[in-house]
Amino acid sequence: MPLPALQKFERKIERQIERQIRFLEVRKNIIERKIERQIRLFEQKRNGIGKRIEHQIKQFELKKGIRLDDEVRFIRSWIERPLSIGAVTPSGKILARTMARYVDPNSTGPVVELGPGTGPVTEALVEAGVAPSRLVLVEFNPTFCHLLRSRYPDATLVQGDAYGMRRLLETLLLQPAAAVVSGLPLITKPIKMRLRLLRDAFDLMLPGAPFVQFTYSVAAPLPKRLGGFSVEASERIWMNLPPARVWVYRRP
Ligand SMILES: C[S@@+](CC[C@H](N)C(=O)[O-])C[C@H]1O[C@@H](n2cnc3c(N)ncnc32)[C@H](O)[C@@H]1O
Repeated sequence: MPLPALQKFERKIERQIERQIRFLEVRKNIIERKIERQIRLFEQKRNGIGKRIEHQIKQFELKKGIRLDDEVRFIRSWIERPLSIGAVTPSGKILARTMARYVDPNSTGPVVELGPGTGPVTEALVEAGVAPSRLVLVEFNPTFCHLLRSRYPDATLVQGDAYGMRRLLETLLLQPAAAVVSGLPLITKPIKMRLRLLRDAFDLMLPGAPFVQFTYSVAAPLPKRLGGFSVEASERIWMNLPPARVWVYRRP
């Protein structure tokens, strides 16, 4: 093609591309505005539902003359931050005991619990023979922290983000941990973040020590194919609401 014809052709293509870009920018702005409107609507709805549930809980408490303490605290926190809490009620006793069963009470070193919430698993660990002074509880919800501090004054409570466990605990733990027990809603996090948490936990523990995690989902919270660790799973605990399974990961 002769040069002037080529330049003309180039200009034509450039004009077409510019037109496409302008068109896409207009579409992008429209789509962004639509998404923002949907988010606002969702937030309004969520606040409405939250207030209605709170009102019903209060009515129920007044009528029955009781306080639904832990369950209510949990539901309130879930209404505020559903993805971070990850469950509507605290774990039931059977699930909590199954988690605790994977921790050897005669082992030495601290037992780290991530996301203890109102403390059902903490209670099961203590019941199973783990001394409260060995417990290191990492929780970021201030209401739960307040409750845990009053219930387990001998435990070490760290109010912070469990995903920053390495930084939070490396100077705090005076010896390798005997176990890390997690109630975190892991499944809501990207796989890379879950894997980093598991590796950080392994680095804080003795080789072969368990990382104990429960999930409501059918799939493993960390797939075995990722490698570098062994995986063990409990039976599905149908008595828990919702039914759950306990997964145990170890680095040889
Ligand atoms: C599904 S609840 C489990 C609570 C309790 N272990 C149980 O079994 O009932 C998850 C808990 O993890 C806490 N949590 C979620 N993300 C966290 C994070 N990044 N750091 C610390 N705690 C977190 C929540 O506040 C909540 O207490």
